[in-house]
Amino acid sequence: MTTPIDATATPAWSELTAHADGFAPDLRGWFAADPDRVRRLTFDLADLHVDLSKNLVDDGILASLVALAEQTGVAERYAAMLSGEHLNTSEDRAVLHTALRRPPGAQPGLVVDGQDVDHDVQQVLEAMSAFAQRVRSGEWVGVTGKRVETVVNIGIGGSDLGPAMISAALEPYATAGIQARFVSNIDPFDLAHKTKDLDPETTLVVVASKTFTTLETLTNARLARDWLWAGLTAAGAIDGSEAAKTDAVAHHFVAVSTALDKVAAFGIDPTNAFGFWDWVGGRYSVDSAIGLSLMIELGPDAFRELLAGFHAVDEHVATTPLAQNVPVLMGLLNVWYTNFLGAQSHAVLPYAQQLSRFAAYLQQLTMESNGKRVRWDGSAVTTDTGEIFWGEPGTNGQHAFYQLIHQGTRLIPADFIGFATPAYPLEDGGRDVHGLFLANFLAQTKALAFGKTAEEVEAEGSTGALVAARTFPGNRPTTSIFAPALTPSVLGQLIALYEHITFTQGTIWGINSFDQWGVELGKQLALQIAPALEGDAAALESQDASTKALLEYYAAHRS
Ligand code: F6P
Repeated sequence: MTTPIDATATPAWSELTAHADGFAPDLRGWFAADPDRVRRLTFDLADLHVDLSKNLVDDGILASLVALAEQTGVAERYAAMLSGEHLNTSEDRAVLHTALRRPPGAQPGLVVDGQDVDHDVQQVLEAMSAFAQRVRSGEWVGVTGKRVETVVNIGIGGSDLGPAMISAALEPYATAGIQARFVSNIDPFDLAHKTKDLDPETTLVVVASKTFTTLETLTNARLARDWLWAGLTAAGAIDGSEAAKTDAVAHHFVAVSTALDKVAAFGIDPTNAFGFWDWVGGRYSVDSAIGLSLMIELGPDAFRELLAGFHAVDEHVATTPLAQNVPVLMGLLNVWYTNFLGAQSHAVLPYAQQLSRFAAYLQQLTMESNGKRVRWDGSAVTTDTGEIFWGEPGTNGQHAFYQLIHQGTRLIPADFIGFATPAYPLEDGGRDVHGLFLANFLAQTKALAFGKTAEEVEAEGSTGALVAARTFPGNRPTTSIFAPALTPSVLGQLIALYEHITFTQGTIWGINSFDQWGVELGKQLALQIAPALEGDAAALESQDASTKALLEYYAAHRS
């Protein structure tokens, strides 16, 4: 295990500290003085057109940020990840989600820890494609001979957020008459709500769990199995015998996991299981077999396009100098805002309603990866880490929280994401509604950057206290990301962009971005507390005073 380089001890960090001392950003002035700023700070990365010019940096700050990436070994660590080094030290695993999207026949081949990774990845993709085609064509039928109309994906965290986000984002590509639904929460409402209008005879359940031990997922899988059996029995489709139940599961349940033995123990036929490997982190797994529901809903071609989009960005990161490397630059900007300008959160604001779950997806990606207080050698981090990611699609967010971004006291860097061509072009009285939508994107980023001075407010006739209330300070940083359309490839590019931003930040902070021990304690305690909810007096007595009082409230009020 290499010792992380302490970013705060590098010359670049000292330079950045000096830049931040008395820093007075002036986007109006910078734009006026430098007609070339937009061209120099705009990058085309595959189909993504990324404008960084409205960020709070000048050339000197940017040079120091790039030097920070050099001095903390970002390029070297990226190369180590791609070659299969065990960067996930606490679990002694390689980190190879990038291998999931290497094209067939990529050269040189990738063999890691004795595994022919390329071969295995393609083999699973082919098995998934064949299965997806059978379902989509109607060759695969349920126990009563009916074709599948709905896929219910049962998973949580990385086994849910990616597929759910992509399913919503690429809804226009779901043309085979099959809809995917996603059940994640152990709150029984989730399964009950998502299945209440479904016909078990036309439903296929995909149980997605990397470990196949996750309490929520296994509980929901058992509930779904009971729902299937009850529905089929009530319809007279099965007779309730064990043999009939086993047959029903074989027709209506498949699984995705790295633990195929546990899949078999659950009662799912191993021939209906799709594997992946421990070198794929849960939050980096949507491009593995975890994407099976997507492949069924959207088709193998769309899924391959998604992978190609990821790969285009992987190639960019691997081959582009740091000063032009878009994910690296965006990661460095986040470090600048977090560690030097005091930002604590980062907004992601897609101007595309289909990306309604994108921020939720990014929350796991970024916060489970970089929400760490120790570095990969166990020593304490030397600076703040892991900003809070959040967001909502525009324009809804404009009517909710943008006020705080414009005029609040906090610095909130924001990424705006928009698409030139809409999924559904509609007109309002001859007016292109998508154009109006994008006008809002452009207006918001303009207002955030350049604000409105007191003089401008007064010139419009405001006086007194109203002048201050209507003044916008500006210098609120944004990145604008445009793409031609929200296609599978573009979505893959966007996800990979944020994966590599996360990696850049994690590297600079010396973090292992690929483990998540912080979610373990709560899981263990839930298992200890559960018996108390079921009336176990000893379990109740062993709780702290607050937990015990809440348990007593629950016991007194449950109906
Ligand atoms: O929340 C912790 C976590 O381990 C995530 O990292 C993971 O994506 C999720 O649980 C689900 O895990 P699994 O796919 O093993 O069910």
